[in-house]
Amino acid sequence: MRLLQLSDPHLVASDQALVRDRPALALWNQALEQVDRLQPDALVITGDLAQDESWGAYRRLRDSLARLVSCPVALLPGNHDRPCLIDAVLGRAHLTAPGELMLSTGRLIILNSHWCGHPAGRLGPRQLAWLEQRLQAIAADPMPLVVALHHPPMAIGHPVLDAMSLVDHASLRSLLTPIPSLRAVLFGHIHQHWQGCWPERPDLLLLGCPSTLKSMQHVQPCPIKRSVDPGGRLLEINALGGLEQRVLRWSNP
Ligand SMILES: [Fe+2]
Repeated sequence: MRLLQLSDPHLVASDQALVRDRPALALWNQALEQVDRLQPDALVITGDLAQDESWGAYRRLRDSLARLVSCPVALLPGNHDRPCLIDAVLGRAHLTAPGELMLSTGRLIILNSHWCGHPAGRLGPRQLAWLEQRLQAIAADPMPLVVALHHPPMAIGHPVLDAMSLVDHASLRSLLTPIPSLRAVLFGHIHQHWQGCWPERPDLLLLGCPSTLKSMQHVQPCPIKRSVDPGGRLLEINALGGLEQRVLRWSNP
């Protein structure tokens, strides 16, 4: 399974507008060039798809995906998003969270950690119950599994970002750590590379992704020493569960 992760494009309902002093749509279209270059089995976009929670932002995302992406796309909301609009504008063509994507050599589960009115994230008891049910159903299946959500499921060591992570992270952790087929948990939100693990599962990678728009002050050094550039992440998991992953970076236009 070859998965391309892009995150936090923060699109708005304008072709030219600057978001955080950057041309959000131009940077997003540039990021999508990675799809053609890397030919992933699926693209997962880990939230903050829109900055302004607008129909027009999601329409621009839909149009860019229709033009530049032919593989399956999994979309999940961040704190800046409006999940019902993601479903309305993009839900027919793409998988939206919570949901599950089966590929020939792996499985992806995407979660919705949007918590209305809060920059922090929350999955909530209903979604956690759904996740528990799905994990029970696939417990005996050795097919490699990846889970993705917007908010980090643990503190990353950043005083501001750690104040707006996932409030029900302990519940998620207790569901995920016993699953032997789970190889990685992917997230966005932090606009930087980050890699860690839960102590009880050192083999399970917890991976934060750079933003396609703008980097935040980093906690860990970028592995390829390009912490300011827009970026993403590529994961490859073989049929035996072996995982290789790397940060991607490209130059600002
Ligand atoms: Fe963001």
